[in-house]
Amino acid sequence: MHEIELDPALSGRQRYDALAASLEALLEGETDPVANLANASALLAQSLPRVNWCGFYLLRHRGERSGTAELVVGPFQGKTACVRIPIGKGVCGTAAARRETIVVPDVNLFPGHIACDAASRSEIVVPILQGGALRGVLDVDAPETDRFDDEDRAGLERFVEVLVPRVQWERL
Ligand code: SME
Repeated sequence: MHEIELDPALSGRQRYDALAASLEALLEGETDPVANLANASALLAQSLPRVNWCGFYLLRHRGERSGTAELVVGPFQGKTACVRIPIGKGVCGTAAARRETIVVPDVNLFPGHIACDAASRSEIVVPILQGGALRGVLDVDAPETDRFDDEDRAGLERFVEVLVPRVQWERL
């Protein structure tokens, strides 16, 4: 078991430096993809203040021959969530389609936002890309507006960069 406590006095930048180092330590030597995504979501939940939901939506293909892909909920921390999100829908599906991070300061002002946990007021979604292949997204929700700034964007993008080579995405 890992006891990881981030010092509450750390600044945003320092907190994300510590988070990246903690993730590396947590996943070292383990190759099971579900285990690693589950622990990565737990690490986020215990490290980020003022967050009510964090976790992964994974890219899934509907049927062998169908070209239709969608996001399906993966390991997460928080209240039960919507299971399937079409690419291009909601904040998650939009970040996946654009392959870029989306920060939503007020979810009520994002057209098409999908409300899973009614407590969520702001949200950040980071696409997960491995060598050009979309694998899914990281979604973090907060119970207050304007929770996520550029430091969070940079920190969570770095978190995903550390995560990508440590998960066997093709085995999920
Ligand atoms: N709000 C997201 C849906 C996922 S939940 O927040 C966990 C969206 O609009 O894509």
